[in-house]
Order: sequence, then C-alpha cells, then structure tokens
Amino acid sequence: IKRIGVLTSGGDAPGMNAGIRAVVRASVYYKMTPLGIRHGYDGFINNEIHKMDAGSVKHIIHQGGTILKSARSMEFKTDKGMQKAWKNVQKHNLDAMVVIGGDGTFKGAMEFGKKFDFPIVGIPGTIDNDIYGTDFTVGFDTAVNTVVEAVDKIRDTATSHNRLFFVEVMGRDAGFIAMYSGIGAGAEEILIPEKDRGIEQLFESLERTSKRRKSSRLVVVAEGDKNGNVYDLEEQVKERFGDRYETKVTILGHVQRGGRPSCTDRVLASRLGVAAVEALKDGKRGVMVGVRNRKVEFTDLEQATKRNPEMDKELMRVANIISI
Ligand code: F6P
Repeated sequence: IKRIGVLTSGGDAPGMNAGIRAVVRASVYYKMTPLGIRHGYDGFINNEIHKMDAGSVKHIIHQGGTILKSARSMEFKTDKGMQKAWKNVQKHNLDAMVVIGGDGTFKGAMEFGKKFDFPIVGIPGTIDNDIYGTDFTVGFDTAVNTVVEAVDKIRDTATSHNRLFFVEVMGRDAGFIAMYSGIGAGAEEILIPEKDRGIEQLFESLERTSKRRKSSRLVVVAEGDKNGNVYDLEEQVKERFGDRYETKVTILGHVQRGGRPSCTDRVLASRLGVAAVEALKDGKRGVMVGVRNRKVEFTDLEQATKRNPEMDKELMRVANIISI
C-alpha cells in the first residue's frame, strides 16, 4: 500500500482532527503518501482530494470539528455516486482508505469496499458512542464533559429557584450521553431509549424527591427517549402535578458537538489513527479499529454498524441506586 486516503463523514466529533493527524503522520512514518478527502463522501465523489504531509496536520490536535470538513452524503448511497468515487480512486491511485465517522459512514465504507474490492478501515468518530466493537468512540468523552459542565450550571440556577429542569441531550436513538452525563451531574432522573420505564417511573421519582424536600430536580433526557420530547414531558408533569413544580426546559443542541477535544479523546483518536494505518499495511480491510479493555481490537465493519443493543446494565443500576 502506497497511497492512503482519509476522510471524516457524518456528524463531526471532537477528536476527529487528532485522528486525521495520526493517520497522516503514521502514513508518512511508514513511507506512504496520505491524501485528504474533503467533505466526506461528497468530496470523494466530487474529487476534493489532495496530498497531505506531516506538516499539513500541525497544530490541529487541540481543535474541535474536522479540518477535512464533513457531510452526510446522499449521493454516495447511490450506485452512480459510488461509481464516480471509484473513478477518483483510480485517478489518484489510491490503494486504501481510512474513514472516520459513525454507523452511516461505516455502512457506506462497507458497501464501497465490497463493490470495488477496495481496502477500507474505519475509526469510530461520533459523540453518540453507539458503535459496537469499541468501549468508546472518539468525541464521546468531550461531549459528555461539555454536557456535565452545562448541567452543573443549570443546577446552580435550578437550586436558587427551586425549579425542575428537563435537559435534552443528543445521542440520536442511543442514551449513552444521557446516562454518563446524568450520572456525572447527579441528575435525579435519566431517561434513555434503551430502557423505557414509562412516564409513571418519572412521576414516582418526583413524588419520592418531593418527600425529601429537594431544592432542585434535574431530569436528563436523551433525544431519542420514547416518552416524547422534553416539552411533552414538561406537559405531562404539569397535567399530573398541576403547579406543584415550576418547570423549565433546556435543549443543549449542537454545543455538544464542538469544543476542544478532551485529552482522553485525543489519545484515543491518536491510537486508532496509527492502528488503522498499521492494519491496512498488514493487509486488513473491511474492519473498524476500536479499543476494548484498553487494547486495540478489530471488528468487521458489518458488525460495527450494529449499534450497541443494550445500555450498560451496571450503569443503569448505579444510576438507580444513587438517585434515590
Ligand atoms: O450523530 C451525532 C449527532 O449529533 C446526534 O447526536 C444527533 O441526533 C445528530 O447528530 C444531529 O445531526 P445534525 O447535526 O445533522 O442535525
């Protein structure tokens, strides 16, 4: 393998730059030529491909977002789009590619790799942590720290006014961000799609905390929760309890996607970037590199796109015990 392409695709995540940097530097280290592909699969189709070197990734490890830009490409889902991208592979003599992204990115990589018998290795980069085959995805740690910082601030004002806050966090249909940040910020309730305990559970918990005369209550809600969005929840609580609680809603939104990556994300992305290049060098293809139990491991892209089916049961148990 002489020429390796690298792209970031799907929702950006803090630490993607550290991943790009590691892929580029490892390629140079092993005497290969790295090529950056801009705007994810859209740029792959539209020939936004340029040579990179060790210097082109200087001073980016601490930056959020992705210097290669990202996209959620619709065209790459079509045969025509893939054919155009394949022409660019030939034009630039690409021998292999590293893709950094989430399950949509991996699905595209898997299909393209099979269709043209082209070696691709994936690096899990998404704030959602919803990828099978790695304990953590690049960006998750930074995102949950951003959420905890925000929720701590909400706690201050909630306590000053004796208010009940519903805080919606991202995660698409996964509850990892909600569960981790909820535990970390000491939320009274955490609502996640993986374990729908029904609205009655929330009512019960509010009754319980009322008896303890709490001065504030925080309910962290994953955006994919099945009891409705945060406004629906607020409405249901009002219907049930009348004006017993003064309620407020905060949707954290895209603030969760940005910011300087944490050291944990930088180190994870650096390890995975090097591992991805070494995997291609060793003849691996169609796999995702992840870290499990502190060791680099490989998972078939097909399996990696199957999201973690169950939220960590132990975490749920802990959350239940400590929120009494
Ligand atoms: O996958 C990352 C993520 O931030 C999800 O948590 C969220 O549901 C989605 O992307 C939002 O996507 P967009 O930025 O395209 O609105």
